Amino acid sequence: MSLGRDAQANLAGKTVLITGASAGIGEAIAHAFADAAGGDIRLVLAARRAGRLEELGRQLARSGAKVHVAGLDVSDNVAIDGFFAALPSEFRDIDVLVNNAGTALGVEHAGSIRDDDVQSMFATNVLGLIKMTQTVVRGMKQRNRGDIVQLGSIAGIESYPGGSVYCATKAAVRSFTQAVRKELIGTRIRVMEVDPGAVETEFSLVRFGGDAARARKVYEGFEPLSARDVAEVVVFGCSRRPNVVVAESLVFPSAQAGSYHRHRNTTSD
Ligand SMILES: NC(=O)c1ccc[n+]([C@@H]2O[C@H](COP(=O)([O-])OP(=O)(O)OC[C@H]3O[C@@H](n4cnc5c(N)ncnc54)[C@H](OP(=O)(O)O)[C@@H]3O)[C@@H](O)[C@H]2O)c1
Repeated sequence: MSLGRDAQANLAGKTVLITGASAGIGEAIAHAFADAAGGDIRLVLAARRAGRLEELGRQLARSGAKVHVAGLDVSDNVAIDGFFAALPSEFRDIDVLVNNAGTALGVEHAGSIRDDDVQSMFATNVLGLIKMTQTVVRGMKQRNRGDIVQLGSIAGIESYPGGSVYCATKAAVRSFTQAVRKELIGTRIRVMEVDPGAVETEFSLVRFGGDAARARKVYEGFEPLSARDVAEVVVFGCSRRPNVVVAESLVFPSAQAGSYHRHRNTTSD
């Protein structure tokens, strides 16, 4: 992905930390940053499946990017502290934080949702994102520069049946993000939120506990977004000149215009 020379110059030499980089949108964001920066970039890639990150890191290093990979469960506050403490010095000053790690578990209605799933969705999507943001923003405030990108969702704007807890987590992300943007007004720290509709990734596979046939059905009858489509929006925002804040981006496939899709009366984003 080439966004042109100005974008490449705006990204040059930056250190970008991406959570949930082992699959889907996070993995695509890592590729898109490396491409747009012409390889002149440092990438810190985090997720629980460290083996996948190692392979991704090898691919990205071929573009010239400097890459650090680390296993991290963002739902574990202690692990987050350990992750930052173990960052090599050349990767410590984070210029761009992409809080992408997130998950939806199940489609049960209120009354039947497993307590463990409620805990896990909030711990990952909300508490992990807040802890990552708080940790990184301290250094950004000292340097008076940086970008924070939160992966929200249309689900955080419009709730849907079967997604009550997931939607609530994304609404919490939205609320937290709007407040932080206001707190940082007038600084050179940009706070952005990207809210996709349906994107075909491992998201539904995870949601349905590995049931591939059920996951495939979510994307039947229309063309969903690809992970790359969303990654391009993230990198576009981060490669604007410093005075431009692409604060909120709602991104749909053409068959979708809200949390309800044209081809069915439910959603799963
Ligand atoms: N797909 C969609 O339709 C859609 C729509 C709107 C918003 N989103 C949001 O986009 C983001 C990325 O989702 P995706 O579609 O790319 O899903 P995905 O393919 O399932 O990827 C999710 C990523 O998050 C990581 N992750 C999950 N739990 C984690 C944890 N506790 N700690 C660290 N990493 C964790 C996973 O890696 P490990 O399993 O290796 O940890 C994986 O790399 C999420 O925030 C999701 O809510 C997705």
